[in-house]
Amino acid sequence: MSNETNRRDFLGYTFAAVAAVGGAASLVGMKKAWDPLPSVLSSGFTEFDLSAVKAGHPSTIMWRGKPVFILKKTADMQPNKRDLIINGDRYTIAIGLCTHLGCIPAWKKTKWKCPCHGGEFNASGEEIFGPPPRPLDLPPFSISGTKIVLGEEGPEYKKIAAAMKA
Ligand code: FES
Repeated sequence: MSNETNRRDFLGYTFAAVAAVGGAASLVGMKKAWDPLPSVLSSGFTEFDLSAVKAGHPSTIMWRGKPVFILKKTADMQPNKRDLIINGDRYTIAIGLCTHLGCIPAWKKTKWKCPCHGGEFNASGEEIFGPPPRPLDLPPFSISGTKIVLGEEGPEYKKIAAAMKA
């Protein structure tokens, strides 16, 4: 009788252990399936060190398949409500797609000029000539020290976005 009980207990514990291992393995599998792919994670956020930017020479970085212009303004460029100010330096951050029909404007000394229909944007990304109906769009970003992280809405982004709407 006691041998029978021990045998049943043993079988019960064995089944419980197998079920626990199987359950844990299933959870790990499900988590892997739900987590975003590494390619999605890397395309969602793009980090860029602003201290590497030379004043007057915009950098173009790719974020989620779109060009983003980052211009450190020179002293003679007009301040603007959409300037990102870090350590006293002013930056223009803008999605580099013309707001008319989406061509990529090129930097011409002091402004961006669109090759498609001649639209122009000043160093602050504001439309100053031609058919573009509005300024270059602002990408969501956050700031960490001198680094900009494209893809997340930090307080600096929210402040500039609100100023642009006002
Ligand atoms: S697409 Fe830029 S002016 Fe038309």
